[in-house]
Amino acid sequence: MIHVNQEIKQFHLTNGKISYIFHVMKNGQLGHLYMGSALHKEGDYSHFQAYDNPSPYTTHVFEDDPSFSLETVRQEFPVHGKGDFREPASIIVDEQGEFISDYVFQSYEVVDGKPELNGLPAAFGEKGSVQTLKVSLLDLTANVGVDLYYSIFADLPIITRSVKVVNNGEQSVNIERLMSTTFDLPDADYEMLHLSGAWGRERHIRKRNLEQGVQSIGSIRGSSSHHHNPFLVLKRQETTEHHGEAIGVQFVYSGNFLAQAEVDHYETTRISMGIHPTGFQWKLEPEDSFQAPESVISYTKEGLNGLSHSLHDFQRHHLISQKWMERERPVLINNWEATYFNFNEGKLDQFIVEAKELGVELFVLDDGWFGNRNDDTTSLGDWYVDRSKLPNGIGELSKKVKASGLQFGLWFEPEMVSPESELIKKHPEWVVGSAARSNTLGRNQRVLDLANPEVVHYLYEKISAVIEEADLDYIKWDMNRNITEPYAMSLQNQGEFFHRYMLGVYELYERLTSSYPDLLFESCAGGGGRFDLGMMYYAPQAWTSDDTDAVERLKIQYGTSLGYPLSTMGSHVSAVPNHQTLRSTPLRFRGDVAYFGTFGYELDPSQLKQEEKEEIKQQIRFFIKHRSLIQGGHFYRLKSPFIDSETAWMVVSEDRKKALVGWYQPMSMPNPPGNRVLKLKGLDESFHYKVNGQMQLRYGNELMERGLALPVEFNGANHHAQTAGDCQSIIFELRSD
Ligand code: DGJ
Repeated sequence: MIHVNQEIKQFHLTNGKISYIFHVMKNGQLGHLYMGSALHKEGDYSHFQAYDNPSPYTTHVFEDDPSFSLETVRQEFPVHGKGDFREPASIIVDEQGEFISDYVFQSYEVVDGKPELNGLPAAFGEKGSVQTLKVSLLDLTANVGVDLYYSIFADLPIITRSVKVVNNGEQSVNIERLMSTTFDLPDADYEMLHLSGAWGRERHIRKRNLEQGVQSIGSIRGSSSHHHNPFLVLKRQETTEHHGEAIGVQFVYSGNFLAQAEVDHYETTRISMGIHPTGFQWKLEPEDSFQAPESVISYTKEGLNGLSHSLHDFQRHHLISQKWMERERPVLINNWEATYFNFNEGKLDQFIVEAKELGVELFVLDDGWFGNRNDDTTSLGDWYVDRSKLPNGIGELSKKVKASGLQFGLWFEPEMVSPESELIKKHPEWVVGSAARSNTLGRNQRVLDLANPEVVHYLYEKISAVIEEADLDYIKWDMNRNITEPYAMSLQNQGEFFHRYMLGVYELYERLTSSYPDLLFESCAGGGGRFDLGMMYYAPQAWTSDDTDAVERLKIQYGTSLGYPLSTMGSHVSAVPNHQTLRSTPLRFRGDVAYFGTFGYELDPSQLKQEEKEEIKQQIRFFIKHRSLIQGGHFYRLKSPFIDSETAWMVVSEDRKKALVGWYQPMSMPNPPGNRVLKLKGLDESFHYKVNGQMQLRYGNELMERGLALPVEFNGANHHAQTAGDCQSIIFELRSD
């Protein structure tokens, strides 16, 4: 899959689905030639480089060749200070304060398989199914090397890319900026899509045109954030969900990030993705190296659904724990919205019995079981059971849960400490913050210095003890504040704090997941504040949002699906009025939305009416019946809540014999048409499908070309209409035997 033409110094990664091509330019730096649909593997593509007609005022590298200007060539690892005035891949400063660099080609190596990235989450793959190209560059003056790693996967239009800086010199250097991906596209005729929002409305799809200048998203909050997701898409204006070109770049990282598209004065576009340079400065001593996180580059001509399919497949086969992809995820019930901090053993006993009766498989005890935590002001860090709530201890509670036939899960917020806690009294030096300044609180809590290996070790010991005592099946790992006053007593160089903090988080995850391989982790950060590929490597599912309002969830889940598969999205049915919006929606609508994710409940079963209990039992049976299809199938977005008054999506099994379609209309439509149809996708044209068990069979091409008939809606007169009022939803089951 990796074709190197030594004569013309061209590197071509292709698997028949994607081509990624770059070469060594006449000044020794790397030039980017192409990223897109597969081209012939043998071709010479050096003519793709644009040595085009620079103005007389353009800088040029060679005295005798004014056409070769770093201002105009398309680059692969652009440097700072040599005549390219776009934003560079790296800024590395030497002890004299010089930050000019010039990375020129030295050597390359092709290896079968996918090397791990030291201390960082990264994609994996079997030898034979993935190949890796390492290209080594060197700044001859500073004697600093850069190794670029590219991996190509046999079955997907995806390339992963990462970078390592190696200090071969005798002086230390400071890395001030290091992008994991940078490459230049030949035009700027794109719209940029990104997933942005806030707490309670995470990952809404946003769109803007590219213009000359930089358009960027990012986070400097210490987590990937609710506000922007480390995922950028460039699409053509005519690209829809179903057709057309799109490029995606994702980051396998959960901390500060920058993702940007810079359009220059010749309308070429530079894509960059990496650790956010703000607040980042990494000191590299002689002989030391720095490994940046991995990025994932994808390309499609099959519209946004096509892009999502590649990303979903990539994550399911090359990033998420394979064990958890094979296992069906349990239907859970979480007590947070049912009780908040106000529970005791008696209340939980009843909760467990009723949950079991409903058919739930896993009981999750959320915040408030430890220390003396009756509100959010105390006890984070004190990971021992609160005997005033659970007098018999967590082990005994777990035994009861398990005896009832349920699995048992617990909430932790390992990275935090409360100002009122035993831990902070014992170890004030473990808290992130400045001794010379006042320190900002977030949700009444402070952050632990996970850059300090002692803290990671302490947390590992404490959490392990609880895991073993309670024989846990599941952990919800929460993180409820952004990081301020980023100062750690354990560090010499504070510019390293944010990244070392993330390395500490990953180290803790690595140790816990290796020691307890059967423990399922769900990541969470005040809902979906850390929904990214870094977390997903360790925690196969994530709490998508604290906002469980089903109308809002249409947008959140639709947006999230652009980059992430259903198997990663925690989606639960909660009580009404909804605790985040005070909106009331029917139980059926809430269930119909929540099926498309890892299903569960956030409510108090004792508050349910008998008919609601019966409906929930049915919902759980329905979900379990379709769980493997939802977890492993191909997801198609059909109608967007950001554009249409209806939302629709569907999931189709690998063999196309089964599908589940969700159709939702949050607001009723006056005087609706009587013959509405929904065009389906991904079916086999010639298969004959039974829809919702009806006798009449429909061919796949009829359902995709003409559409599936939607039920007749109330029009003011037809009182026998099949749907009426707000929050209508229908789930269609399709089967071809
Ligand atoms: C934020 C999470 O998103 C909620 O689900 C819940 O676990 C609370 N934290 C508990 O403090």
